[in-house]
Amino acid sequence: MRYHSQSVAYWYFAVAMVLFGLQLVFGLLSAAKYLGPDPLLYLLPFDVTKVIHTNLLIVWVLTGFMGATYWLVPDESRTELYSTKLAYIQLGLWVVMGVSAIIGYLFRYGTGNKLLEQPLPHKLVIVICMLIFLYNIGMTIKKSGRFTTTEGVLLLGLASAAVLYLPALLHYENYTVSIYYRWWTIHLWVEGVWEMIQGGFLAYLLIRLSGADREVMEKWLYVIVGLVFIAGILGTAHHYYWVGVPGYWLPIGGFFSALEPAALLGMAMYAYYAMRRSGLAHPNKLALHWTLGSAVFTLFGAGLLGLAHTFPSINKWTHGTLITAMHGHAAFYGAYAMIIMAMIAYAMPAITRRDSEDGDSIGYWAFWLQLGGMFGMTLSFATAGIGQVYLERVMGMGYLDAQLKIQIHFVMLIATASMFAVGVGLFIYDFFRYAPRFVVDDQEPLVTPGVRANV
Ligand code: HEM
Ligand code: HEM
Ligand SMILES: [Fe+2]
Repeated sequence: MRYHSQSVAYWYFAVAMVLFGLQLVFGLLSAAKYLGPDPLLYLLPFDVTKVIHTNLLIVWVLTGFMGATYWLVPDESRTELYSTKLAYIQLGLWVVMGVSAIIGYLFRYGTGNKLLEQPLPHKLVIVICMLIFLYNIGMTIKKSGRFTTTEGVLLLGLASAAVLYLPALLHYENYTVSIYYRWWTIHLWVEGVWEMIQGGFLAYLLIRLSGADREVMEKWLYVIVGLVFIAGILGTAHHYYWVGVPGYWLPIGGFFSALEPAALLGMAMYAYYAMRRSGLAHPNKLALHWTLGSAVFTLFGAGLLGLAHTFPSINKWTHGTLITAMHGHAAFYGAYAMIIMAMIAYAMPAITRRDSEDGDSIGYWAFWLQLGGMFGMTLSFATAGIGQVYLERVMGMGYLDAQLKIQIHFVMLIATASMFAVGVGLFIYDFFRYAPRFVVDDQEPLVTPGVRANV
């Protein structure tokens, strides 16, 4: 660690890890309900466990983004953070907001707008936290006068994510209007500006782990982010097929969203070639696994499995079924959960008492169990979803009758999700088993010896 203020990242990561663990508890609870009978039906019904599961996901991923940014910006701008005090105030507010929102959901205090269920007071606190965060980062960069492209892409992503949250503050009586704007936040987040955030972290990690030329890496970053963005904006229309808007959105959605996987393919290839060229010389091979893993799993989960149901002719059968859950899990995990774990794996040797630069067998078990588990979960949702689509949508069987026929896939889901959860448990254990340690080493090379120093 070159700058003492980077230590704030540790506390953001710690909060993210706790919430990640809790998210899985509610995921497993939601999955178990598909098998029934449900002893918690009147206490914690499916809608409540699912809302807590997905909201914890969003909160921990955003906490991870913030922590990773507080880690990255001092490194890139070569300066201490503008204010660590502000960073801790922001974290405190954020945790109070997150925890009280979850408690609220237990009592059905929420807007009912999928993924944006946060009540208005909570939404306002989210906006305040984002403003504090962007101010702190902006002032840090201003103070240093060094502003890299990687930071630029990351910050553009973070600031746009905050702006795109604003439509979520408004309430519309008309359902079509409400859902129309809902996608400005949800879709433009995950298939637009969050991709910039992932791209920024990816470029940072690739430059440092592979020693690849900064100029080349950043040029490619522009191209990929540009492609994702252009395709992603009009790609929003793949959510407009059946919501009551004019029919011209159908070809627009099909065409532009089908271009998005091309950009994701570019990103995976960019990561792979950068790593190969470096001869994988960096000692922190665990961070390397997570970095490359994120780029490749995004191509699978978002690119391939997104494409699988993005054309109107297919989506008219699969819309809102377990096929959506199949894609949602693999895409979110690959793009956002894995990139945060990559940043944590990279920072770990510097912020904890772990002596070795590379992780040990626990770190690798965590990686492979998660990967295998998430792959199995994706297949379980996929097989369940295909059965559901044929029975319910093609054959016209009732919803609950169809669910009874596909129960075996939920046994498979719970088995593979348990494997995944062990992997996550090991990652969390690996994170907390060493006490934090913040030793500033300003002689620390920007990249490790053996890797070309050109950062
Ligand atoms: C122990 C592991 C997990 C289990 C058992 C699990 C289970 C579930 C279940 C049963 C649902 C409800 C699906 C439905 O509406 O029918 C769900 C929704 C969801 N989960 Fe998970 N989950 C797990 C981990 C994760 C992870 C790690 C992520 C992301 C990184 C994630 C992201 C989501 C998302 C985005 C949804 C909403 C999908 C939609 O409504 O289309 N889950 N999960
Ligand atoms: C990292 C990138 C991505 C993430 C995290 C992601 C996540 C999600 C999630 C959580 C949903 C469910 C949303 C909801 O119903 O509220 C969803 C829906 C959808 N996604 Fe993605 N996605 C990504 C990229 C893509 C791409 C590149 C495509 C197309 C090639 C795509 C196609 C779709 C489609 C068509 C739906 C609607 C499914 C339905 O009709 O029920 N996604 N995505
Ligand atoms: Fe989308």
